[in-house]
Amino acid sequence: MDLRNRTTLVTGGAGLIGSFLVDRLLAAGARVIVADDFSKGRRAHLAHCAGRIEIREGNLEEPAAMAAALADAEVIFHLASRAYGVGFSAGNHLAILEHNEKITTNLISVLRARPVGHLLITSSSCVYRDDGPDTLDERPLFDGEPEKVNWGYGWAKRLMEQKCMLLARETGMPLTIVRPFNIYGERYAWLGNASQAIPMQVKKVLDGDDPVVIWGSGSQRRNYLHAIDCADAMAGLVEAGFTGAVNIGTEDTVTVRELVETICRVAGRAPRLVLDTTKPEGRTIKSADSTLLRRAYPGFRRTITLEDGLRRMLGWHRAEFARP
Ligand SMILES: NC(=O)c1ccc[n+]([C@@H]2O[C@H](COP(=O)([O-])OP(=O)(O)OC[C@H]3O[C@@H](n4cnc5c(N)ncnc54)[C@H](O)[C@@H]3O)[C@@H](O)[C@H]2O)c1
Repeated sequence: MDLRNRTTLVTGGAGLIGSFLVDRLLAAGARVIVADDFSKGRRAHLAHCAGRIEIREGNLEEPAAMAAALADAEVIFHLASRAYGVGFSAGNHLAILEHNEKITTNLISVLRARPVGHLLITSSSCVYRDDGPDTLDERPLFDGEPEKVNWGYGWAKRLMEQKCMLLARETGMPLTIVRPFNIYGERYAWLGNASQAIPMQVKKVLDGDDPVVIWGSGSQRRNYLHAIDCADAMAGLVEAGFTGAVNIGTEDTVTVRELVETICRVAGRAPRLVLDTTKPEGRTIKSADSTLLRRAYPGFRRTITLEDGLRRMLGWHRAEFARP
């Protein structure tokens, strides 16, 4: 699908991945609408393209806000979701599930009456069970519980996938389901202990914490992809006309300890690193089998290395927190 002159909608477009997706869609020549309640996303993340996009502010848990957001959209990239770190998830599984379910119900109710040219929904690698293989392909989901540390969130994403698959089957609407792994980058909101892992570590290092505390054993291995490359994959999959469920991530991993060491090196700091094994850390190894992604979107590339991505994040963080 050529996105040029298409009316695209990005729900959650003021967030980390969404704001980079807006840039990617503008570069492809699309007309871009952002629907966001700014609960976590920031207007500042879109300031550089103000005047080139339309913003529809509203809480998509409300049916009227969803209807207004989707009104004239031809292609929808659905990203809006309350996504927090595992520290927040631990005591809030039901609240996270309920929040996401409301949004999914509203999305489906509008699209059932008026299907669009293409729908992409953002699921997550959290849909996969903890005791699967270290490198995950797009296996069937209902052969165990989703990731334990993100239990409510994982179920919300699983339910959204199943409901949207039924909707696609009943309406004939093309549907892409993406399952990003660990996506990071600048343009995040600082949420204290509810923050996600990398923003949390970046802040600790730049605040001069010594020691810097790492949650868990530090030996848990993860795959990290910059949000620019994730956003490119999302747009590229729709441009390529891919339908079905696909991972967004790659096979390579680093340990969380190596991640923090890299942040320290890039920041020019050398704090002591201390492990807090009482904190949740999730499964030991998690990475993505990217075979399907590369086949579905042959243009997929990792354009930003972890070190370069962290350098971008640190520069952004310094500028952001230096503001009055
Ligand atoms: N970042 C990751 O590592 C990762 C991994 C897997 C999946 N995902 C998924 O990708 C999507 C985007 O993630 P992100 O990292 O950019 O998160 P983010 O929190 O930066 O962006 C989410 C955006 O949705 C908005 N939003 C939340 N609730 C809303 C509501 N009720 N109404 C309107 N807007 C609302 C927020 O204000 C924010 O701008 C989410 O669906 C998330 O679950 C992210």
